[in-house]
Amino acid sequence: MTDYILAIDQGTTSTRAIVFDHSGSIVSTGQLEHEQIFPKAGWVEHNPKEIWDNTREVIGQALSKANITRHNIKAVGITNQRETAVVWDKNTGEPVYNAIVWQDTRTQEIVDRLSADGGGDRFKDVVGLPLSTYFAGTKIVWILENVEGARERAEAGDLLFGTTDSWVTWNLTGGVDGGVHITDVTNASRTLFLNLETLEWDDDILAVFNVPRSMLPEVKSSSEVYGLVHDSSLLREVPVAGILGDQQAATFGQAAFDKGEAKNTYGTGNFLIFNTGTDIVKSENGLLTTIGYKLGDGETHYALEGSIAVTGSLIQWLRDNLGIISSAPEVEALADTVDDNGGAYFVPAFSGLFAPHWRSDARGALVGLTRYVNKGHIARAAIEAIAFQTREVLDAVNADSGVPLTELKVDGGASANDRLMQFQADILDVPVVRPVVAETTALGAAYAAGLAVGFWSTLDELRANWQEDKRWTPSMDDAERERLLRNWKKAVTKTLDWVD
Ligand code: G3P
Repeated sequence: MTDYILAIDQGTTSTRAIVFDHSGSIVSTGQLEHEQIFPKAGWVEHNPKEIWDNTREVIGQALSKANITRHNIKAVGITNQRETAVVWDKNTGEPVYNAIVWQDTRTQEIVDRLSADGGGDRFKDVVGLPLSTYFAGTKIVWILENVEGARERAEAGDLLFGTTDSWVTWNLTGGVDGGVHITDVTNASRTLFLNLETLEWDDDILAVFNVPRSMLPEVKSSSEVYGLVHDSSLLREVPVAGILGDQQAATFGQAAFDKGEAKNTYGTGNFLIFNTGTDIVKSENGLLTTIGYKLGDGETHYALEGSIAVTGSLIQWLRDNLGIISSAPEVEALADTVDDNGGAYFVPAFSGLFAPHWRSDARGALVGLTRYVNKGHIARAAIEAIAFQTREVLDAVNADSGVPLTELKVDGGASANDRLMQFQADILDVPVVRPVVAETTALGAAYAAGLAVGFWSTLDELRANWQEDKRWTPSMDDAERERLLRNWKKAVTKTLDWVD
């Protein structure tokens, strides 16, 4: 009987289950999208019950497509959209409110209130993050302050908080019937509450936020057996043995285990992670300090992260809100109908601007328009925006580390877009390299789980699985690159100060 690892990737737009074999190749995939709920401008929610139902279903899809059963699965790994906050009742398993998604900006008033005393960086030395609507902590506060009865129930110890890894793990291991309430260090490092050195929740910060500690999950490593899947699931009794936030999982799946290695993932947003080894590096250039991974009792590996809120979701916006393409991949053909951006620059500050700016008062802008600009130029400007934003975070990484990256490993959906990858290499002026298995997020979670149960034994074994698929080499002349970057920077200035 052949053995496999199953990874659950609970992402922003969909949930997937992927079965991997020992070589790190994909055997089968199940996938379901969930509803994106936009109740007001700037608000983004998901229904946690829908996410859990989809998780159960995609597990079934993946097993049946591979024609295997739970007996072939040695362990389950979980990876997830980070920062998205779920609060539920531990006695009933019912969420008290929809999940508030990482892109949601409703907590700006809470951020301002907390920043009033000590500024936006007041907790940065401890948690590595600035105060921002992005992180889970402010979303918990919003639920406690705005959902009727939530504060009292939380104080009474009846409510639990979790990012979606916790929510899925709690349900998978039994829910009200003994589910384990845990998260891993990488997800915990995105709440604003985790002390990066001690790996414990910080009581002083919890007191400032007025969040009861009893709501919070136990913090575990990224690779250990947390519990067994409950009897009610198709994966009954399989160990749940790995959890990594999706960007850390992609870094792990890219085999970027060592200090100085980096990757950039093209998803709904873009996230560039630079491994700083066991050093906690404080950014001087607008990057986040975050946890990369911790395997069992092993050392904690840290990272610098450049988070960009809107990249792939800009292409979805062209599809859903403007209707100028009917599927996301069509953007490449539309962009190819023109020779250049026609002078148009699109800064998609839909959730404010994340790294390296951290300006929640920013809103999107399409500038440089003349009567000449057509939808091809807009498609082109949207693709280019992804690459320009990545250049901004790579500059910040290079400035913080002092050692410029000589190439960039890429993955995620849009790494299949040739036009974008060539432009990315041109704008960065370093080669861009994609591995054969571009599903590095799920692969990273599978690796973490597989290491915990002995399916894989060493990191070298995983490194040997990494193979280059394609490489894009810069071919733009310096003057042209500088002209484009100058215009991009000017366009960014037009997005600031839009929120009264
Ligand atoms: O920090 C947000 C990130 O984890 C979301 O990733 O791939 O679901 O867009 P993704």
